[in-house]
Amino acid sequence: MSNTATTPRFPPYERHVFICMNERPPGNPRGDCKSKGAEAVLNRFKELVDGLKLKPRIRAQKSGCLDTCEAGISVVVYPEAVWYKRVTLADVDEIVQSHLVSGVPVERLRMHPRPTSVSGPVKPIGNA
Ligand code: FES
Repeated sequence: MSNTATTPRFPPYERHVFICMNERPPGNPRGDCKSKGAEAVLNRFKELVDGLKLKPRIRAQKSGCLDTCEAGISVVVYPEAVWYKRVTLADVDEIVQSHLVSGVPVERLRMHPRPTSVSGPVKPIGNA
């Protein structure tokens, strides 16, 4: 018996992007992603996801603190769990085209080294 007509797809997105939008009071030693320009980064992700008609396969949304503040603006992409550091507005188009659409993470922006057990690109999205 199949109930696929009533069961939401899981996971609901092929890729899910979280952009830290946390804000702290000025002078806080940890800093925060919002004061580094996270709102413009988030808006560009959303603009590209909309413009490239990637919805609903890809979702980009704000998050709270990802606890990697010193490396912010912090961005993480699931399901691959690729964390990006010091993301600027100038990096967003490359992350979208290379990683979100084509399945090739942007190595120069990775927060953590790529595991040596992994080779080749990750899975491109459905009709890329
Ligand atoms: S403020 Fe962005 S990771 Fe903590």
